[in-house]
Amino acid sequence: MEHRLLGLTGIRVSELCFGTMSFGDVADERTSASLYRRAREAGVDFFDCANVYSAGRAEEILGSLVEPERDRVVLTTKVGFPMGSDPNDRGLSRRHIVASLEASLRRLRTDRVEILFVHAFDPSTPIDETLRALDLVVRQGKALYIGVSNWAAWQIATALGISRREALVGFSCIQPMYSLVKRQAEVEILPLARAEGLGVVSYSPLGGGLLSGKYGVERRPERGRLVENQMYAVRYGERAYYDAAETLAVLAREVGVHPATLAVAWVKSHPAMTAPILGARSVEQLEPSLAAADFTMTDELYARVASLVPTPPPATDRTEEQKGVAYKGSAEKYK
Ligand SMILES: NC(=O)c1ccc[n+]([C@@H]2O[C@H](COP(=O)([O-])OP(=O)(O)OC[C@H]3O[C@@H](n4cnc5c(N)ncnc54)[C@H](OP(=O)(O)O)[C@@H]3O)[C@@H](O)[C@H]2O)c1
Repeated sequence: MEHRLLGLTGIRVSELCFGTMSFGDVADERTSASLYRRAREAGVDFFDCANVYSAGRAEEILGSLVEPERDRVVLTTKVGFPMGSDPNDRGLSRRHIVASLEASLRRLRTDRVEILFVHAFDPSTPIDETLRALDLVVRQGKALYIGVSNWAAWQIATALGISRREALVGFSCIQPMYSLVKRQAEVEILPLARAEGLGVVSYSPLGGGLLSGKYGVERRPERGRLVENQMYAVRYGERAYYDAAETLAVLAREVGVHPATLAVAWVKSHPAMTAPILGARSVEQLEPSLAAADFTMTDELYARVASLVPTPPPATDRTEEQKGVAYKGSAEKYK
């Protein structure tokens, strides 16, 4: 397993991150421990978590696993989604960021996380207040870096400008959704990350399981997030996604790999990428995703995978530029 620098920071992380959203949910404590051990054995030292995963239980399980080797792993957690019925137990206010991180650290049995992500945009808190609260927790040493997930590119760019102007600690990395069937990030978010030197730790490389080979246009597994979880059923509801899942599986068979390996390797090969975050409910599921670390992706195969779904439209609606037809200037324009 190779290591990559996280954006412009000096910290190195394994090129695959393991996500613990399944801990305490579809993976019980024993299965979570075996997933953690298998990831470690494969060379993963980068673990993603959030306060909301299994209402804090994922942090508790991860904390107990990490405790004996805390200094050998890089941990993230997140803040933003509601943690209870209290009206202040949510969002990105100074109050909730400080209280939530303290609770996360207790559950994770540590005095700091390497990265604290804001989990979603909070329209009711000024960005300024959020950035000052994040700056505070970094200065206190409770988080070493800050990151942002699920914000639009303009919101991230606004925040980067404010942090610079006010000499506050700025975002070092982003956590967007990104897979073969969810390529919106290519339009603005990934170019922003490259321009600003932000690390990219993307989530759902298999589209929540859609690209694992068990889904097709007419095929659904008995068990699986997309058939069990309404939010994911809606997120991945389009027929075209299932077409893509089928054609990816055909291509994977031709190449001689598991569809999950090809899907993760494709995400991992994007030039802006630091590390995709893997998800699994069992070690058996995790294996093909881990295999992406050793898979050699050629330019030709990368392009073939990309061609299975339409490229998202450009940010400016100037479709001709995406097709390589450039504006030639006013002198030539009317020729
Ligand atoms: N920032 C955010 O808002 C956000 C959102 C989502 C996730 N995340 C992070 O990203 C991590 C990964 O996300 P994700 O779980 O959505 O990733 P994913 O790789 O897209 O989906 C993982 C799921 O796909 C299925 N799967 C995986 N390998 C399989 C295999 N070999 N065969 C059959 N099914 C397989 C399993 O679900 P089933 O068994 O249920 O089918 C598994 O839980 C999470 O743990 C979390 O840390 C962050």
